[in-house]
This record gives sequence, C-alpha cells and structure tokens, in this order.
Amino acid sequence: MNLDPNKEYLDTAIYAAKAASDLIIKSSKREIKTFKSQTDLVTETDLASEKIISDIIKSKYPDHSMLAEESGLNDSHSSEYLWVIDPLDGTTNFVHKYPSYAVSIALINNGEPVVGVVIEMPLMNIYCATINSPAYCNNNIINCSDTNKLILSLLVTGFSYDHNDNWNLNMKLFKEFTDITQGVRRLGSAAIDFCHTAIGHVDGFWEFDLNPWDVAAGILIAKQAGAKISKLNGDKFSIYDNEVLVTNGHIHQNMINVFNELK
Ligand code: IPD
Ligand code: CA
Ligand code: CA
Repeated sequence: MNLDPNKEYLDTAIYAAKAASDLIIKSSKREIKTFKSQTDLVTETDLASEKIISDIIKSKYPDHSMLAEESGLNDSHSSEYLWVIDPLDGTTNFVHKYPSYAVSIALINNGEPVVGVVIEMPLMNIYCATINSPAYCNNNIINCSDTNKLILSLLVTGFSYDHNDNWNLNMKLFKEFTDITQGVRRLGSAAIDFCHTAIGHVDGFWEFDLNPWDVAAGILIAKQAGAKISKLNGDKFSIYDNEVLVTNGHIHQNMINVFNELK
C-alpha cells in the first residue's frame, strides 16, 4: 500500500503530462506556426497542450485552482490547491526543432510545491517527485552530483526574452562562471535545467526572470534529489521570486560569493 498522500495527484500529473507530450511529439513532425512576438514565441501546440492538461485536471479536481502560462490564473473556488502548468517549456527550441523541450506540471498546496512532473522531450524522460518521496527519472531514484569545487563543476543558466538589467548582469555572470568552472551550458528549457541539476548532469543552475510555471515542478524535483535552493544572494526562494539558484549544495556558497562580487 502506498502511504504517500500526494500519490493520486502525482498519478494525475503524470497522466496529463504524458498526454500532452504525446501531442507535442506528434506536432513536432508537422509544420510549426508561431505567434505572440518575434522573440517570445507561442505555437498552436502550446495552446493544445495546455488544453489537454487543464481538461484532465479540471475533470478530476473541478474545485482546484489553476495557473497555466497561456490562460492565466483561475481561482474561482479559492482552493488551497493550485496546479501550475507550463504546457511547453522551451518553445523556441521546439520551433527550431532543437531537441530539448518539456512539459511541466506542479501542484502547490498552501504555497509549497507538493507534486512535480517534468517530461523532457524528445527523449521522453519522466522526472517526478512529491514532497514525501525521493525524486525519480523513469522510476529510478535520482540524486544531485557530489562535485564540491567550482573549478570541477559544469553549470547551466538561461536568459529571459526581456533584455533588461538582469539580462546584462547575467551576461557578466555567464562570463565569470565560464572562466572559473568547466563550463556553462544554455539549453533553453528551465524545467529541464532543474531536472539536470537533480540528476547530476550539471552541478548548479541559476536564472533571472522566470515565472512560477517555469520553476514550480522542477524546484520540487531538484529539492527531493538533495539540491539546495535559494535566491542568488542566499535568501529564501519562493516560486514567485524572479531569481533562483539551485545547486548540489556543495558549491552553493561559492556561487553566492561570485554573485555578491559581481552584482
Ligand atoms: C522559457 C524557457 C527558457 C528560459 C525562459 C523561459 P518558454 O520558457 O524556460 O529556458 O530561459 O526565461 O521563458 O517560454 O519556452 O515556456
Ligand atoms: Ca517556460
Ligand atoms: Ca511555455
């Protein structure tokens, strides 16, 4: 018998994420049309994926609230449960057929992520966790790396569409961390970046100007895999903050020190 009180929610999230990822993979083989703006792209697939996920969740939990990237917040029942959905994270990659994009679904209870599912496509790796469980990738328990020196680390970051002051600061951080580590990757899906930290492919990830739907599932998966999470100055992080630092724990303070010197 499974005693995890969030298991039923996890199963629903996995079911919805699989349905959406099947649709996304099928759509990736057809012509992809974009709209929104020239740099912040949305496709019909983003919208279709969001509809599949929200229909599944609404049919099971009609009283729960929902925050989905393309349709916004629906909290007409003032529920303590909030589903947070990014129907396609890494849309720019998807449009260019760069093979790295994801579906991200999280359940928040009283402000804290309690369920997180990310499907990394086109590999179809299913990352998941609940607040009561380890983190998994395809049913195998995953853990962060044990690299304990920046000079031995591989990092990942991302850049928002808005080229604001944070974007300029991130360019400086990108250069500095490239100098003092074994490298910094920039893949284009924040949800995947969290999962790659959780499984130890990279030792740390930071980014500015993310939205709750980019972080809610990945942050829980990373946390349950042993990651340390904070703002870049070390302060406590919430999914509504606009900067995040996630590491294997060992290099966390060193990264904060670099940030404090450069900001
Ligand atoms: C984007 C991706 C990207 C990050 C951007 C996000 P989208 O999400 O997560 O990695 O750098 O800030 O907006 O628009 O592809 O869902
Ligand atoms: Ca996103
Ligand atoms: Ca998206």
